[in-house]
Amino acid sequence: MALVALASAKGSPGVTTASLVFGALWPRQVLLAECDPAGSDVAIRMTAPGGAPLNSDRGLVSLAAASRKGLSDEVILAHSQQLDGGLDVMLGVRSPEQVGGMGGLWHPLGISFNQMQNGDVLADCGRIGASSPQLPVIQSARLVVLVCTATGSSVAHLRERLSSLVHHVDAQLGVVVVADPKRRDGVKQVWSVLDAMSVPVRHRWHLAYDPVGAAFFDGRGHGRLDKTQLIRSATDITAEMAALVAAPPQHEFDMAEAAFPPQGEWGG
Ligand SMILES: Nc1ncnc2c1ncn2[C@@H]1O[C@H](COP(=O)(O)OP(=O)(O)O)[C@@H](O)[C@H]1O
Ligand SMILES: [Mg+2]
Repeated sequence: MALVALASAKGSPGVTTASLVFGALWPRQVLLAECDPAGSDVAIRMTAPGGAPLNSDRGLVSLAAASRKGLSDEVILAHSQQLDGGLDVMLGVRSPEQVGGMGGLWHPLGISFNQMQNGDVLADCGRIGASSPQLPVIQSARLVVLVCTATGSSVAHLRERLSSLVHHVDAQLGVVVVADPKRRDGVKQVWSVLDAMSVPVRHRWHLAYDPVGAAFFDGRGHGRLDKTQLIRSATDITAEMAALVAAPPQHEFDMAEAAFPPQGEWGG
């Protein structure tokens, strides 16, 4: 199935929160993979079923050691675990110092994530720059989504990152703006900045800035999560993203046709 990579250009606009929300609402089997070299937040914020702590020894680092014998869906899932609520997660590195131990895993990992048999993968890639080690994961994705806020500096960095990224990926590009639901004008300004660029960003979404909803993904929530503005705004976004990556990409269709032309076209 498909890999969707989420990342930011600068700062902390809410990539991890958005990844957790989309993962929780994803309409198919999905694995949330923490590929942020800055270190895992999920291990700190979230719990296993029943409120037990997550096993921080099981994740990308243990996968890196195990993958020396080969990488398969089974090996990936053996180093994943379940969050309270049921979402499967591959915990990221505990600290940036552990990234060195990942060696050349990012590239095969991205390919494997994009080809898992039983589900999609949402990769929280954290902040990305030109020399980020996790860039190969982004390059393997079917859909790359940059998360930003509607502030001038966030949008300026988004622009700069998109201009660079377009030379490194041939995935579909999307942008999620995290903004107060009432600040539609600010979000429109982001879209007009994108319109003025030559980079094709076809998929544009407004995710609610909602501290009440976000608190649930920070280990501090109480009340009805499903009634929050965060979840209400994320429901349609998640459905659209999942639908976008449900069909094989166009060039895979083309290749299938080239390999198996309709019967009438055989003979000669
Ligand atoms: N949609 C949102 N609405 C309100 N607060 C948010 C939202 N997304 C993230 N936050 C808050 O912002 C902080 C950083 O969020 P996080 O998801 O960790 O960002 P990133 O992964 O980009 O560093 C956290 O305290 C989180 O609760
Ligand atoms: Mg994060």
